[in-house]
Amino acid sequence: MAVPAVKIDHLTKIYSADLGKKPMCAVDDLNLEVEQGEVFAFLGPNGAGKTTTIKTMMRLLFPTRGFVEIFGIPNLSVKAMRSVGFLPEQPQIYGYLTGREFLDFTARLFRLDRSTRKKRIDDCLEQVGLIKRADGLIRGYSRGMMQRLGLAQALINDPELLVLDEPMSNLDPVGRKEFRDLILELKDKGKTLFFSSHILSDAEMIADRVGIVNQGRLVNTGKLRDLIEAQIRSIEITFIMTPDKTAKLGFEQANIVQQDEHMLVRLENDADVQRTIGDIMRLDGRIVSVVPQKRTLEDIFMTELGG
Ligand SMILES: Nc1ncnc2c1ncn2[C@@H]1O[C@H](COP(=O)(O)OP(=O)(O)O)[C@@H](O)[C@H]1O
Ligand SMILES: [Mg+2]
Repeated sequence: MAVPAVKIDHLTKIYSADLGKKPMCAVDDLNLEVEQGEVFAFLGPNGAGKTTTIKTMMRLLFPTRGFVEIFGIPNLSVKAMRSVGFLPEQPQIYGYLTGREFLDFTARLFRLDRSTRKKRIDDCLEQVGLIKRADGLIRGYSRGMMQRLGLAQALINDPELLVLDEPMSNLDPVGRKEFRDLILELKDKGKTLFFSSHILSDAEMIADRVGIVNQGRLVNTGKLRDLIEAQIRSIEITFIMTPDKTAKLGFEQANIVQQDEHMLVRLENDADVQRTIGDIMRLDGRIVSVVPQKRTLEDIFMTELGG
């Protein structure tokens, strides 16, 4: 089997105490593997430890315990980082450069030669949809444009693994859609993507797998579909029937919702569903829909967080 793109092993980060403060355990014995070619969403509320984990992955922080490997190489080795692109949470970009100049600066850090630089910069600008504004000063960019520039910067070395910390937080709905398309495009090229978010719906369309982190601990990981479909919570039947006939079904008034001619009842188990459908048909009612109510990512999140 191929080595994982990312292996996080018993990672712990304790921020040591400032005067008069307690030490803060931001990441607590976290274990995680991300396969090559996977889109992995690292989800959790603010303060959960996502950024700390990511900074440790990127060698910006030294772990208290544990280690990180990138494609099987300890991340402490410079070599491991050559195949990684990184978008920090709040990229600080010097405003008196143009977007293109900034990318040229980044490309030089990877020691790309002049012609390779020019080509990579144009490709990246094109990919993130910033080519038309590339020669404007960064201080004139909107937050969304800054985010795109940050992304272009992360792509400059054509990395195999992209690590993005809250990449969608500054984007408007159109930007989010474009961003999702870009992620899927990169995935099609065989890249591995690891991104964090506190917004669950960001993951819903694109992540192969999610990990949910809370208070520094990984509380669940899995395929999104499995997590969501593992549990059907209830089944809603919508039907058309007169109120007097509906009364004969024997449900408490409170359990039936009426809107115009439509009636809606929510049932917990299959036997009740079968019986009710039979009763409705016998009473000459018309079934409009029978819809299982699945757990949403939101539900899972709340359960895992003890909400
Ligand atoms: N430099 C620091 N010193 C002390 N505590 C920190 C530091 N950075 C983050 N923290 C704390 O660590 C916890 C995790 O923060 P962070 O990793 O930024 O979470 P997230 O990215 O999930 O919002 C928070 O409680 C935060 O206040
Ligand atoms: Mg963060």
